[in-house]
Formats: sequence, C-alpha cells, structure tokens
Amino acid sequence: MRTSRTSRTTSRTTSRTAGTSVSPLWRRVSAVCAGLAATAALLAAGTTAARAADTPLRDLAAAKSKVVGTAVTGSKLTGGYGDIAGREFSSLTPGNAMKWGSVEPTQGNFNWAEADQIVAFAQAHDQQVRGHTLVWHNQNPNWLTNGSWTPAQLGGLLQNHINTEVGRYQGKIAAWDVVNEPFNEDGTYRPTLWYNGLGADYIASALTWARAADPAAKLYINDYNVEGVNAKSTALYNLVKSLKERGVPIDGVGLQAHLILGQVPSTLQQNIQRFADLGVDVAITELDIRMALPADTAKLAQQRADYKAVTAACVAVARCVNLTVWGFTDSDSWVDSTFPGYGAATPYDANYAPKPAYYGIAEALGGGTTTPPPTGACTASYGVGSQWNTGFTGNVTISCSGASLSSWKVSWTYAPGQRITQAWNATCSQSGAAVTCSNTSYNGTVPSGGSVTFGFNASWSGSNPVPTVTLG
Ligand code: G3I
Repeated sequence: MRTSRTSRTTSRTTSRTAGTSVSPLWRRVSAVCAGLAATAALLAAGTTAARAADTPLRDLAAAKSKVVGTAVTGSKLTGGYGDIAGREFSSLTPGNAMKWGSVEPTQGNFNWAEADQIVAFAQAHDQQVRGHTLVWHNQNPNWLTNGSWTPAQLGGLLQNHINTEVGRYQGKIAAWDVVNEPFNEDGTYRPTLWYNGLGADYIASALTWARAADPAAKLYINDYNVEGVNAKSTALYNLVKSLKERGVPIDGVGLQAHLILGQVPSTLQQNIQRFADLGVDVAITELDIRMALPADTAKLAQQRADYKAVTAACVAVARCVNLTVWGFTDSDSWVDSTFPGYGAATPYDANYAPKPAYYGIAEALGGGTTTPPPTGACTASYGVGSQWNTGFTGNVTISCSGASLSSWKVSWTYAPGQRITQAWNATCSQSGAAVTCSNTSYNGTVPSGGSVTFGFNASWSGSNPVPTVTLG
C-alpha cells in the first residue's frame, strides 16, 4: 500500500512538472504518531533478525532464579505465536484447556486434546506447566452446575475430578492452581457451588486430594485483587496460615494481577514478602495491564513502567518463583471482550511485536537498560488532489509500519477561507479552523504494513496551504 501511494504521488508530480494548466498539487505532510503500538515487527525476516539480539525473557529470568510464563491457547502454538511462546517463556499455563468444563464437558466423557497438546509443547521446549485450575466457580460443565447433589455426592465428584486430572498429568505439572478465586472482595468466602455444598473446608480437601494424586506438584490457591495488602489478600493470608498450622498441604499463593494502567499497588512487594514469610512460594499468575484504547506513546510508556514494577517486586523476593502473563499478545487476551474500550494489556502487540512493556519486564529481570524499544509508527499524510478557483479535493492517508491501529482520528487547523464541505470514508467535522476526522465503522483497522485513505471536498479562498496533520 505504501508503494502504491508513493507511485501515485510520483505520477502526479510528473504531470505538474510537465506543465498541465490545472496542476494538481500533491503536497504531503506527514505527521508521525509514534508508538501507537510498539515494534520492530513486521512479521518478516527482518523482525526475527532484529529480535535475535535480545536475550529471551526466560534466560534473563533463569539468571535471577525465576521462571517466566505465559497463558496459552493450544491451537495457536504454531508459527509466530509458537516461536515466541517457546523462545521467551519457561512456563506455560493453559488459559482454558484444563478447566473442568473443557476436560469433561459431559459427565464421564473427557477431552484432553488441548491440555495434552500444551503439555507436549512445554516438554518439547523444556518448559514448566502450571495447571489451571481444579476448583473454581466458573467454566464448570453444565452437567455439574445444573445437577442436584448431596454434599457427599459433591465431595465425591470433586475428589474424583482432582484424582483424574492431577493423576493424568502426574510428574508433568510443576504447580497446580488447585483452588481459584475463593474469596469475595471483603475477605469473606465466595458463596460458590463448593462453599455452599461443602463448607470452607472444600479448600483443605481439594489440596489434600491433589497432594495424593501428585506428591511432587506444588499446590497453590490463586485469586485476583490480592496483589496489594487489603481485606481480600489478608483473608488469603489468614487462610494459608491456618492451613499450614493444620498441616494441610499448601505450597504457594497465586496473585493473578489483572491490573489497570498506572495502578500497580504500592504494597505489592510487601504483600509478596508477607506470604513468603509464612513459608509459601508466591507466583504472579495472570499478569496483564489494561489501558483505555487507543494506546498512545504515553500509555505504552506507563505500561512499560508498570510491567517493570510488578516484575521488580517479584525479583526482590526470593520466594516469588514465577511471573506469568495472561497471554503474551494483544491478539490473545481476554481483556478486550470483557472490558469494552480497554485492551492492549499484554507485552506484545497483535502482530507479535514486542511492546515497551516487554522491555519493562526484561529490564527488571536484568536485561540491558539501554535496549531501545523498536520504533514502530503510524503516520498521516495530507494531499491535495485537484484544485480550482474556489474549491479542491483532498485526501489523507494513514499508514502503519511496525505498529497498528484499531481506530484513528486525525486533526488539523485550516487557514482562513479553507473549509471541508463533504468527506467520504471518514466522519469529519470542522469547528472554526479546527478539523477532526475519524474512522467509519468499516475502516478503523490499520495493520502494520497497511494504510487507509479517506477523501473530502473543500472550499478555499485567499491561499490553500497544506496543514500539518496530527494523528492520535
Ligand atoms: O470455546 C468457546 C467457543 O467454542 C465459542 O464459540 C465461544 C463463544 O463465546 O466461546 C468460547 O469459549 C470462551 C473461552 O474463554 C475460550 O475462548 C468462553 O466463552 C469465555 O468465557 C472464556 O473466557 C475465559 C475466562 O477465563 C472465563 O471466565 C478466558 O478465555 C480466560 O482467559 C479467563 O481466564 C481467567 C482465569 O481462568 C482465572 N482468572 C481470571 C481470568 C480472566 O477472566
């Protein structure tokens, strides 16, 4: 697309040079919108070469005695996605494949295909697997949630589920998120199928059954909004303390860390430390940091700082053993569909290019502080097509290279007498001298290496200067 635009410009310039009487003016001004995504990565050979010089996160983490992981979708573990998952991470967590609803959709009929695939990939790439998750209130099969069970039946079903799943992968799972999200925000127990049917000791029972099924696997309780010191994390702390006092097997706590830009809890390291001091490991299990879209340079820089801060807090505490991101690419994140208007939450953009956040993790793991984030950019360029004594047609092309957009807005300031009268392939408005144009429903996406053009009719008097266009 960039090539075709250039040749169009060239051909117009040639016609003007040839002296046609109504010379179209193809004067273009580019406005760089830097960092709307990160990247050096045009998924082309040059990208791979550019990144080969970076020490993979897993090697940086190993030098700090840490494991760095990502949640994955089994069906995607090929091509560029598979390359990054295998190269950068030393731990994989199945994002959905090991949940009860995935592995036993109808009672007694099991589907292990995706879970098996992820475990096999991990073994082939010398990676750990975090099993996720055995006891949860979400993503359970309908036959289970719609059933009517006595406490004894419910306990039997749970024990059987844990035996079956943990037993199947015995020796292949480094750690299990045995119990997921047991608490309400105020630190009381969440009233789930399990709590309501079996009482709070469903947690101790599940841990005990998991230990029996795979004595070598580390057993975790995992929750969200427990990253800082607060009522919920204190309830988790008190639970772990009491489980240890009772001799119930508990090896670690998982702090999910689904965070919002600029809101890394100031007590994160202190909180990790207090769990470590209880005698359990800590893992950051589901890290992502979402932002209001569209991303821009400042937000991506803040996200880099936030990822660095979370990673540094883990690095600072010896018993923080694993830092896992909940999907490494913006194309494989739960955030966008769950929080409309938010996204860009992971360390790689949707084209698998590392974002500044990636370098924030790397830096906290001891990677070079001077590693420049690759500079991708989207630009907007303004052109004048034909011009006559009172009017002209114009157009703006938005092009991306090593970056991408899911929506766009361009603005510029006109000189006296210049006014847009009609636009196509964009929604434009003019207030005084200020013009703003944004994408329509069908052309907001500009991929790396792609471009979008819109056109307009306008009037002019006096002079018709080319304005400076701002994208963003
Ligand atoms: O697989 C089906 C597909 O066949 C169907 O067409 C489609 C239609 O909606 O749904 C697909 O299932 C979706 C599944 O993800 C796989 O993509 C479910 O609807 C969707 O609800 C499910 O979301 C998962 C979510 O847990 C469920 O609560 C996310 O992928 C997963 O990332 C997310 O992970 C959780 C952790 O397990 C626990 N901590 C919070 C975290 C984020 O919610």
